[in-house]
Amino acid sequence: MEGPTLLLSLLFWLAVCMLSLAPRKLVLGLDPNNPGFISIDCGALNAYPNNDLQIYYETDDGYIDSGVSKQVSSDGMGDGVRASAKTLREFPDGFRNCYTIPPTTTDEGHGKYLIRASFLYDNYDNQNRTPKFNLFIGVNYWTTVDFPDPGSYVHKEIIHVVPPTADAIQVCLVNTGNGTPFISSLELRQLADTMYLSDDQFPTLALYIRTDMGYTADESMFRHPSDSYDRFWDVDDMDNDGTLSSAWNGTSPPTLDRTNDAYKVPIEVLGTFVTVESSYNLSLSWKAHVPGASKWISYLHFAEMENLSSPREFTIYSNDAFIKTISLDYLVPMTVPTNQFTSDIGFKFKFVANSLSSASSVPPIINAVELYYLLDISTRPTDLNDVNAMKGTKRAYNVTNKSWQGDPCVPTNFTWDGVKCSTENSPRITSLNLSSYGLKGKIADSLTNLTALTSLDLSSNQLTGPIPELLAKLPNLNILNLSGNNLTGPIPESLQKKKYDGKLELSVAGNPNLRLEDSGKLKKKRSSFVVPVIAAGSGLVVILSIALAIIWRFKITKGKGQEGTIKLRNRPFTFNEVLKITDNFKTVIGKGGFGKVYLGTLANGTNVAVKMLSQTSKQGRKEFQAEAELLMIVHHRNLVSLVGYCDDAKNMALIYELMVNGNLRQHLSDQSCNAQVLTWNERLRITIDAAQGLDYLHNGCKPPIIHRDLKTLNILLNESRQAKIADFGLSKAFAAENDSSISTRPAGTPGYLDPEYQSSGSLNRKSDVYSFGVILLELITGHPAMIRSASGSIHILHWATPIIERGDIHSIVDPRLDGKFSVNSAWKMVEIAMSCVQTTAVKRPDISCVLAELKDCWAIETASERSQMMGSSKSRSMGSFQMTSMAVDCDSLPFAR
Ligand SMILES: *[C@@H]1O[C@H](CO)[C@@H](O)[C@H](O)[C@H]1NC(C)=O
Ligand SMILES: *[C@@H]1O[C@H](CO)[C@@H](O)[C@H](O)[C@H]1NC(C)=O
Ligand SMILES: *[C@@H]1O[C@H](CO)[C@@H](O)[C@H](O)[C@H]1NC(C)=O
Ligand SMILES: *[C@@H]1O[C@H](CO)[C@@H](O)[C@H](O)[C@H]1NC(C)=O
Ligand SMILES: *[C@@H]1O[C@H](CO)[C@@H](O)[C@H](O)[C@H]1NC(C)=O
Ligand SMILES: *[C@@H]1O[C@H](CO)[C@@H](O)[C@H](O)[C@H]1NC(C)=O
Ligand SMILES: *[C@@H]1O[C@H](CO)[C@@H](O)[C@H](O)[C@H]1NC(C)=O
Ligand SMILES: *[C@@H]1O[C@H](CO)[C@@H](O)[C@H](O)[C@H]1NC(C)=O
Ligand SMILES: *[C@@H]1O[C@H](CO)[C@@H](O)[C@H](O)[C@H]1NC(C)=O
Repeated sequence: MEGPTLLLSLLFWLAVCMLSLAPRKLVLGLDPNNPGFISIDCGALNAYPNNDLQIYYETDDGYIDSGVSKQVSSDGMGDGVRASAKTLREFPDGFRNCYTIPPTTTDEGHGKYLIRASFLYDNYDNQNRTPKFNLFIGVNYWTTVDFPDPGSYVHKEIIHVVPPTADAIQVCLVNTGNGTPFISSLELRQLADTMYLSDDQFPTLALYIRTDMGYTADESMFRHPSDSYDRFWDVDDMDNDGTLSSAWNGTSPPTLDRTNDAYKVPIEVLGTFVTVESSYNLSLSWKAHVPGASKWISYLHFAEMENLSSPREFTIYSNDAFIKTISLDYLVPMTVPTNQFTSDIGFKFKFVANSLSSASSVPPIINAVELYYLLDISTRPTDLNDVNAMKGTKRAYNVTNKSWQGDPCVPTNFTWDGVKCSTENSPRITSLNLSSYGLKGKIADSLTNLTALTSLDLSSNQLTGPIPELLAKLPNLNILNLSGNNLTGPIPESLQKKKYDGKLELSVAGNPNLRLEDSGKLKKKRSSFVVPVIAAGSGLVVILSIALAIIWRFKITKGKGQEGTIKLRNRPFTFNEVLKITDNFKTVIGKGGFGKVYLGTLANGTNVAVKMLSQTSKQGRKEFQAEAELLMIVHHRNLVSLVGYCDDAKNMALIYELMVNGNLRQHLSDQSCNAQVLTWNERLRITIDAAQGLDYLHNGCKPPIIHRDLKTLNILLNESRQAKIADFGLSKAFAAENDSSISTRPAGTPGYLDPEYQSSGSLNRKSDVYSFGVILLELITGHPAMIRSASGSIHILHWATPIIERGDIHSIVDPRLDGKFSVNSAWKMVEIAMSCVQTTAVKRPDISCVLAELKDCWAIETASERSQMMGSSKSRSMGSFQMTSMAVDCDSLPFAR
């Protein structure tokens, strides 16, 4: 050994020794002399340096978690080039097993790599039967590994560009049912960016042949350390019509000028070449066929090894296509890539001496050839974030399922057990079912990174600890099954919220230590009422101002020593309390315009109705707020009273007294035979109750309150069938009756809507009176406001008017009453109703007058009850009823409570 070589060698081994002492982790991917190398001796028990190759081989620890280590039977592999083939890793289990290799570069994973997988069977399993299996690079097919004979040492090599977005290289062995896959070694060599294809194309090149032209020695090929990139240069066995030549006899190599040489083909390779003597045409040809390979590219390496008087010039043809005319300078290497070309039969290269310089003509030469085909790597791997989240999940639970190898989604017949993916080009994980997977420990944080999940099933495991709130942040999650574990702590509010919003199917059964709420948190989170409203935006501020104005006016009006700070009487409930009250939104008892209504029970056992504001309706939320504000201060025995409310900015709930007998519409439309039909008396009572409620809103409140959405659905009955008006969602206070500014948005329900609203665009007290008239008609007839028939729907008024004009009271009144009503009081009711539904608002009576009339009506009824009910049912004759003369004559003052 010469001095410098010896010194280098010493330094190398010194470094290697130091490295061996270093912690295992540092060794990964770090070859002291070769920073761009990762050399994995698969199945090896210990890392070791290879003296001959000056390469440090690691074990495959940390690169793979499956397979078993095996050793070939041959002895004497020693330190030679085959040393890394002595051990191997075989994969008797699973369809796909993958090595995962972090790239060596720190440049965010981006880089160009030579990746080489090597296989030596050598009857390691004493079966004397070579397997055949597939190799994948990531999610794309690379090649099929097959062995000409049991002793063949097979190498598969690609040049692969890792795009900046990928974080690891995966090499997978896929069992095709033709024997157990195995691998002897896996080597990565980082290449210079300027080598081979320009990296903006990110192609992957599979090596077909790499030949050191003119080198026929019977020794093994050149590789590291001759080649600083550790390419394998095979001896020349190519068909050619040239003669071998060597400019270098192996004594002292000349020094090449590598100034512009990116490829760094070793001098040992360039030093031998092929040329022609008799003719000035040199040709090379291959018969090449690789299934699936259609695009090819070759790299022709030249270096002038003779000090000629004039440069060697010649033209290169590839399959008869002109490539380039080149001129070689002494000891200056040159690499000529061909264009990509298509062939499925073979190649012919021709080098033709340049005739222009024929005077001093020298024949063409070729020093080395590389031939590659392009791999189709168009299948995209799963979204990287999802891949990382799945890796994290696999680690967190030590999932050893054999299918959990390689990419979680693609190729689709290798999708991991329990995983479902979208079909887009870079798939997302949409469903994960780890039911009965034996999972132990906490719910892994990495699961919350699977942001495309729609379904997550972790049921029937042994999971402990809390439910991460982050699960509620998964935007598309609509199934979450956590049942049958041993989870503890509260169910996060946000998940509960999604559940009652109908956005999440949440199952938590069978977790004995789960709580609904965290009472410690409860007290801290109770928020004041006013602050979130102001913070919520200007729209709400307006509502709030109105509400505060009402409160203020009420205090002034009512006075009576209550001046001073406005104190809201009902304390707000937290969302957790709402959860508790409703027993986790167990029973839906109705659905309003703004959300569902749930049955609830207060701590003292009182049943309540909990009305939730669905999160989607922004408009509804303002109204909700307004309603809460109003109901806080408006109390009347014929108005549904507010027990409390919840307003924690995210969740809005109103807690009402429970009206066990539902709404009036139900009672009027219930056709079931055992339904208890409302008697005429009850109907009268209800009209009076409702009129009293409305009268209080219109005339008891200063400023008056217009309901704006009065209908039978909003008239609720308690256990004694006392009627109360509900749903102040559309209520608004107004200062002056004709102030149109208060009616800024459409309101009301078709069938109940003041016909003048269309023209005036404003709603006033008389609009409520119109609605009330429609309700009266419904009570009388039993029909809904819009009567549906085969020919479409007809307004109750249009249906009733001709019958009324005929004076046919029996055809008007609800047949379910079976004639059990007083005709006089029925006519009176009809009159009142018709006065309320007059088209012109000014002609409609004030509700106080209506109330007075209804009370009269009550008097008639109770009087007639004492006489024979059916006696005078035909006393009114046809036509005696004149609508035009029917205005209720009323000067009475608003009904005083
Ligand atoms: C190589 O050896 C041959 C024969 O021994 C000799 O003719 C030739 O000059 C040598 N070339 C060089 C570059 O030393
Ligand atoms: C060499 O190749 C050129 C171009 O293909 C051709 O024109 C010429 O005839 C060939 N010469 C010989 C001697 O084959
Ligand atoms: C090449 O040969 C010429 C003379 O023929 C000589 O002057 C020159 O130094 C040689 N070049 C090299 C690099 O040996
Ligand atoms: C993971 O599972 C394997 C095989 O079941 C076991 O050998 C290993 O100890 C487990 N590791 C952890 C961290 O639980
Ligand atoms: C693991 O995956 C296989 C399919 O590869 C499946 O049949 C099996 O049920 C899974 N094992 C467990 C424990 O879920
Ligand atoms: C996977 O699918 C490909 C093509 O769709 C098929 O050739 C291959 O045999 C399948 N592999 C397995 C293990 O099912
Ligand atoms: C998860 O798989 C189990 C059976 O393995 C099945 O019963 C359950 O319905 C699946 N869960 C979902 C959400 O599909
Ligand atoms: C979730 O993803 C983010 C961003 O990709 C990452 O920073 C974080 O570490 C991941 N969390 C877990 C628990 O994997
Ligand atoms: C569930 O966890 C609690 C502690 O959090 C423990 O006391 C209990 O034994 C566990 N139950 C089961 C069935 O594992």
